[in-house]
Formats: sequence, C-alpha cells, structure tokens
Amino acid sequence: MKVLVIGQGGREHALVWKLAQSPSVSHVFCAPGNAGTASDGENVAIDPLDFDRLLQFARQEAIGLTVVGPETPLVGGLVDAFDAAHLPVFGPSKLAAELEGSKAFAKDVMRQAAIPTAEAKVFVDLAAAESYIADREQARLVVKADGLAAGKGVVVCADKAQALEAVRRIMRQREFGDAGNRLVIEERLDGQEASILALTDGSTIVPLEASQDHKAAFDDDQGPNTGGMGAYSPTPLITPPLMDQIIGQILVPTVHAMKKRGRPFKGILYAGVMITNQGPKVLEFNVRFGDPEAQPLLMRLQGDLAQLLLAVAENRLADQPPIDWTPRPAVCVVMAAAGYPDAYDKGCPIRGLDDAARVPELKVFHAGTALRNGQVVTNGGRVLGVTALGDTLAEAKLRAYQGVKCIRWDGAWCRHDISDKARRFAEADPA
Ligand code: AMP
Ligand code: GLY
Repeated sequence: MKVLVIGQGGREHALVWKLAQSPSVSHVFCAPGNAGTASDGENVAIDPLDFDRLLQFARQEAIGLTVVGPETPLVGGLVDAFDAAHLPVFGPSKLAAELEGSKAFAKDVMRQAAIPTAEAKVFVDLAAAESYIADREQARLVVKADGLAAGKGVVVCADKAQALEAVRRIMRQREFGDAGNRLVIEERLDGQEASILALTDGSTIVPLEASQDHKAAFDDDQGPNTGGMGAYSPTPLITPPLMDQIIGQILVPTVHAMKKRGRPFKGILYAGVMITNQGPKVLEFNVRFGDPEAQPLLMRLQGDLAQLLLAVAENRLADQPPIDWTPRPAVCVVMAAAGYPDAYDKGCPIRGLDDAARVPELKVFHAGTALRNGQVVTNGGRVLGVTALGDTLAEAKLRAYQGVKCIRWDGAWCRHDISDKARRFAEADPA
C-alpha cells in the first residue's frame, strides 16, 4: 500500500519514518514535507490546504491511506473531502476537529459532559471582556483566542493589567485575525502538564503512552511559550491509576459527547492535561498527534503503524491487537533557529547531521528544514527534533544531547533540561 502524509514538520517526519517501516507499506509520500521526509520518503510539492490537488494526487497514485498531520487542514475539512471521494484517510472530520478549532466549542462540550477543566467564560465583545476582568477579585486568569493561532493564542496572565492587555491585543488589534472573534477567559490552574493522546474510531479508544512537552522557550520553563522545545515518554507523572482516571473522566466522556452531538471523533484525540491538587483537568484538546510528542512516542511504538491508522480510518480499532510499546524511554530535544519563537532567519546550512546519525539509537527528525543545492538548510523556527532511546531516561537524554552536540548552524540553540521534570517527580515521590 502507498501512504501519503500531509504536513511538513517534525511530527510528519516521524510519521513518514515510522510508516515507511510498516511491512504493509510500499512507498510513503509527504506533501509538502521537508529535507528529512525527502530522505525517508518522497516529497510532493502540494500545499496541505490545496484539497483539489491532494485528492487528484491520491487518486492518481492509488494512495491506500492518507494521514493528516497538522490541525489547519483538519479544521478546514480535508478529511471530509477525502471521505466524499472514498479515499481512506486518518483524522477527524471538520465538525469533529472543532474540538481544537474552537476553544469555546471545546469548553461547551466539556461543560455538558462534566469533564474536569478550568472554569471559563466566552466573550464576543471587548467591553464585556474588559468589565469581566475589572470586576474579578481573583486576578489569576488565562486569556485565549477562540480559534487556531499556531499555539500563540494563549496568554497566561500574572495580573489584571496583563489580562486586559491580552484581550485588547486579541479583540482590538486583532493579532490573531478571525481566530480572535471570540475569546475564552478562564481560571489559571496550577500543576504539572502532561500530553495524553489516544487513538479512537469514534467507538473504541486506545490510549497511547503518556508524554510531557516543554512549552516554554528556556530552561526551567522560563521565557515565552513555543510550539514545544522537547518531549519525552513515558512520564512518571502519569501513574497507572491516574491514567485510568484520565480515561474515565476525560477521554471516554469526550468521545461519547462528540458522538451524541453528531460529530463522531476519529483520529488522534490529544488532551493537554494539568494534574492539579483536585485531579486531572483539561487545558486544551488537539485533534492530531502532538509535535514534538509524536517523535518520542513513535520511536517507542513497535509494530505496524499503517495498519493501526488504517483500522481507525475503517472503524476497525476494536479488532486490533494491543499496541506494543518498548518500555525503554525516548527523549526528543528540539533545536531551534536564532530568534524563535519570534522572527528568525532561514537558509542557514546545517552541518554535522552525519555525525549525529552515528550516535546509537538516535534519529534526527527534521522539522523546519529544506534542501538547497543538495545542502540541508534551516527553513523554520523549530528546525530539528533530535530523538533517542535508552535503557533509562538518563541514557536517552544523554544520547539525544550527544546528537545535538554534533549538529551546528549559525545561531542554533536548544533547552538543556528536556526530561529533567521526570527526575523531579521521582525525587518528590520515591515510591
Ligand atoms: P493551550 O493551547 O490551551 O494548551 O495553552 C497553552 C499553554 O498555556 C498550556 O500548555 C499551559 O501551559 C498554559 N495554559 C493554558 N490554559 C491554562 C490554565 N487554565 N491554567 C494554567 N495554564 C494554562
Ligand atoms: N506540543 C504541543 C502541540 O502539539 O500542540
């Protein structure tokens, strides 16, 4: 079977790499892909939002499975277009993808289904949002643009002044365009975050192993929010009883609620969860694999990913054998371009990729890269996800950073503490 992966980041490179290993897969295409997907598969120069050309390509190549990586084509209805053409596709429909495409919709689903989450209010009017903030005694607020904002539409506010500034940026300056037509103001939660991903075909739910992202730009969770500077899996934060609680209180009721609303959810349901003193609470839903969480997860997943994703697409998840995970941990360290998450340069030649490839059990997943005259150059803010397995988390981390040390370009940087959060839980709770 031929497979088509849609997208061009580190998540998509990991998907291409893993799908290419499936015994049932003869060829993997990636549209549009990056320099990494070009070496593990074949790139096709089609934009993920050009649905007509994607459909035409899938028909012409007799693609047996299309896997959609990013949220934007999902929220735009790519899966509906493939379904209508009877082409097998992995991902949620446009209506189901609204769980990520509208934070107000997600809050409504959670409220109705009594899914634990931060208390929130939705606003369509700037003056109403301003007076709500001014009248609050409790100033620990989070302001979120309703729609997709490439991970940048959330402001965790230290005080009322910041909250007022955030609502004005979203609704008056319209910093995120139409994504700011509505906004959500919610209580700020305290705790540790985990990424809980599950495969579902709308009836059966198969949770993946838990992972932890590192969203802040700098070590010790300092600095601005990013798309994610690194991830590791598994995480000791999510104990088996806690996972059971998350399945029972969050995943099952969400899938059920979506079905009841006539928007059955198929694909990856990703719950960003805060583990608070009152238990797990949902921070956000995503409707796709996490990036960079997909990199360590797919490195740990054994077996045929293509068959698993096809079973979801064809509503056969209940018949699949349990997923086989290596218990060995994986760590992904993101190497970023100078300036990221603000403006950054592109086109810097990347050196040392061959040396990094010699580190045992390591894979360099490309995120923002391109090929220019045969040379791999930077082409995005998050450039690479250097990912390694080890017998222990410490060994996986050591190997990932050994790989990082081999790689150079002007202004390259990374966090140095990816996966150290795990050590803190172990120290806090030696049991
Ligand atoms: P989101 O895109 O909703 O996950 O928000 C991005 C990040 O903002 C999350 O990963 C959290 O670190 C933070 N965040 C979002 N909502 C809250 C909240 N209610 N309380 C505290 N932090 C939050
Ligand atoms: N790593 C966070 C996300 O994929 O949204």
